[in-house]
Amino acid sequence: MKKLVKFLGWVIGILGLVILAFVSFVYLTWDKKYEAPYPEAMASADSAMIARGKYLVFGPAHCAGCHNTTERSAQVELGMDLELIGGAEFVFGPGILRSRNLTPDKETGIGNLTDQEVARVMRYSIGHDGRPIFPLMPFQNMSDEDVNAVISYLRSQQPVKHPIPPTEYNFMGKAILALGLIKPEGPDGTPPKRVKVEASEVYGKYLANSVANCVGCHSPRDLMSGEFIGPKFSGGLLFEEAPGESFITPNLTPDPETGYIANWTEDTFVQRFKTGRIYEHSPMPWGSFSRMDEVDLRALYRYLMSLDPVSNKIEKTEYMLQAAGSN
Ligand code: HEC
Ligand code: HEC
Repeated sequence: MKKLVKFLGWVIGILGLVILAFVSFVYLTWDKKYEAPYPEAMASADSAMIARGKYLVFGPAHCAGCHNTTERSAQVELGMDLELIGGAEFVFGPGILRSRNLTPDKETGIGNLTDQEVARVMRYSIGHDGRPIFPLMPFQNMSDEDVNAVISYLRSQQPVKHPIPPTEYNFMGKAILALGLIKPEGPDGTPPKRVKVEASEVYGKYLANSVANCVGCHSPRDLMSGEFIGPKFSGGLLFEEAPGESFITPNLTPDPETGYIANWTEDTFVQRFKTGRIYEHSPMPWGSFSRMDEVDLRALYRYLMSLDPVSNKIEKTEYMLQAAGSN
């Protein structure tokens, strides 16, 4: 008996030391800084460039829906063109991310960041201060021309002073950062200089993967690291939104049995996007996407229909859980 107590004492002691060592490791090393090259970006005052940038920011790239306070994001969702003053909070397992003020204000916005610093955020998911950013902004492969257009629009806004408290990580978030599970990720090869805007599969592929992030939500992923863990566009990613309400993304591949839009016509698809939001709490940025023009929507449809069919049955996309004992 005495021997057992002694043995357990050792086990508990060693376990304690291991935990202490891990906790110290996390606290000492989570705040890592990374390096990445600065892209050759340059904002322009050309009105066509600013207009293209505005279209991307409020439409397919949906920067405007995320980079605002919750109340103002709801107004943007309804079609208002408000400055991107930041402030939305994304509360998830690893902590609270707070979107930044992207107006040209020097103190609280991007007024003191160079075009290259802003472009590097988009190309490498790395903050201007070298912090890695959780993968919410997968614009790594956006064309040089579109990156310049977005920055041109951001620079053309009215500066608005609106300080945003820093992003906060809890222990889990810090552990993920300390272990290097989230680190800046660059483009796959050299991003295109420009992509021709036309109702083609090529442009649809570009929108779905490098601008609108359809791929990020409509594919199986590990929710901690963001890694893709199954066939892209086959759906099945779970979002728990308002208490009791969950969403599962539908399979967007043209599988005749289980593809959610496999028997939609191109016009049905365009019409669905023009209709906009149906579920109030759906995480899909329907308001921004309803601003996409027909060329972009037709391009998306043609690309999705060109994918290899993947069988993945998603029974329905929205679930209301009955609260326990409520009947
Ligand atoms: C899904 C929501 C979302 C979308 C869409 C989005 N952002 Fe962000 N953005 C964030 C959040 C959250 C942060 C803060 C991240 C952090 O602090 O780790 C951020 C940070 C930034 C930063 C500041 C990084 C730094 O240096 O600290 C820039 C610049 C930026 N975003 C630009 C853009 C642009 C340009 C677009 C559109 C092309 C865009 N974002 C789309 C959520 C979003
Ligand atoms: C932030 C996550 C997110 C992004 C980005 C996103 N979706 Fe979705 N999508 C969802 C969710 C969740 C649903 C199910 C709830 C709903 O219908 O709103 C959904 C539903 C759909 C539906 C079914 C709508 C219906 O009538 O039932 C289609 C079609 C669709 N998405 C296509 C797309 C395309 C194309 C893109 C890119 C342009 C895209 N999604 C980007 C999360 C997302």
